[in-house]
Amino acid sequence: MRVAVIGSGYVGLVTGACLAEIGHRVVCMDDDAAKVRVLRDGGLPIYEPHLATLVQRNAGKGRLSFTDRVADAVQEAAIVFICVNTPPLPDGKADLSFVEMAVRRIAEQATGRCLITEKSTVPVQTGQRIERTLAIYGKRPGVEFDVASNPEFTREGMAVEDFLHPDRIVLGVSTPEAERTLRELYAPIVEGRFRCPIHTDCRQDRAVPILVTDLASAELIKHAANSFLALKISFANALADICELAGADVLQVVTGVGLDKRIGRAFLNAGIGFGGSCFPKDVKAFVKIAEEHGYDFGLLREVERINLQRRDLVVEKLKQALWILRGKRIGLLGLAFKPDTDDLREAPALAIARRLLDEGAAVQGYDPQAGEKARQALPALTVCPDPYAAATGAEALVVCTEWAEFPGLDWNRIKAAMVRPLVLDGRNALDRDQLLALGFEYLGIGRPLSPDHSRKTRE
Ligand code: UGA
Repeated sequence: MRVAVIGSGYVGLVTGACLAEIGHRVVCMDDDAAKVRVLRDGGLPIYEPHLATLVQRNAGKGRLSFTDRVADAVQEAAIVFICVNTPPLPDGKADLSFVEMAVRRIAEQATGRCLITEKSTVPVQTGQRIERTLAIYGKRPGVEFDVASNPEFTREGMAVEDFLHPDRIVLGVSTPEAERTLRELYAPIVEGRFRCPIHTDCRQDRAVPILVTDLASAELIKHAANSFLALKISFANALADICELAGADVLQVVTGVGLDKRIGRAFLNAGIGFGGSCFPKDVKAFVKIAEEHGYDFGLLREVERINLQRRDLVVEKLKQALWILRGKRIGLLGLAFKPDTDDLREAPALAIARRLLDEGAAVQGYDPQAGEKARQALPALTVCPDPYAAATGAEALVVCTEWAEFPGLDWNRIKAAMVRPLVLDGRNALDRDQLLALGFEYLGIGRPLSPDHSRKTRE
């Protein structure tokens, strides 16, 4: 099938590359001509595992191309995906001006019958607005539009894998034609009929469930899913605080809670809170959407409050341990909002760095992928070439992102480089016993100060 993708950011590029990989002909469009040039030259403006291979292979086979002109992308396309940004406005609502602009341009340029599909996260009832916009600007003989909502549930760092092996595919449609087109598009994934570029021996043991809904319900599913995951994280973080007060260990508590199949262990990792371009923005937007429809979603406001408090908690813990922060050197391990990405949007590490700088501390950080972006985002932060440099001269080292390589670092070398061997493990990612045995002072999140303590509470 011929597919157009409008907006070539994280979502658009992953969508385009994966659809090309399963056999479709895809044109990805972006207004940013410089970005399009990079993509045409075989480069990638972002880091995302497996994406570069997919982009290069499919561009080489002529199944994936890039343009900065809407007309080049949408003419002859059977499906157009809208993957443009929906950034938050100052009041928390999503800014839909990029969506509107994209829809107008599609309406003006489309030829024939075309299915316009929302992938960007949008407030419920955006589909209706899109239908109206298309009716106004796309009124031409022979041109017809359907509108669908097909939310994406991919995680950064796992996006290609999530796209090709989804838990479910949600199709919010208003016509049988739209449903038929989207079913055909996703058939290779649903039936496992593609060569998996990630796993060598990848057999799908079940067909991927497809849920067909109306447009508004599909739009709500996306906000509800992200908000529920954010709620789980804030719940775990609240538990962590109670554990610290009561001398319990949050790792043990969430293991016990998560073993209940109805609850599950995923997204119960306490730490310095959730960041990224999705959860913070979507929780805020969902509160606003609810408000506009006359519902006070106080539950989600609390999720947000707990999350923002995590940053204060780190600064407080450091103050407790170091007394005065002014003039002290503090190292940060991990700057991206989560591992396996170079994305710094709403990264807790940057917010913490800003606070520490405001307190007069010198802050130096290391990240395996996000260093360069961090240098640009926060020039006052010293970005180090490796984790040992980030530890050098530091009175405390804070783990802000649980990159897989951190537990296996040479911790003796880190200790020797530090002025005071204090580790604040903001993601409970390190081996506490190993660090204590090496002579570190170890502070976790929601964990008693000494391992003996939790043993005692077990007895
Ligand atoms: C999230 C959702 O997981 C995806 O399903 C969704 O498609 C995506 O948003 C989106 O709307 O586009 P993402 O933001 O890439 O994906 O990353 P997550 O893995 O969900 O992590 C979000 C944040 O939560 C990170 O800062 C992470 O460190 C934090 N987190 C996650 C925790 O603090 N604890 C946990 O137990 C899990």
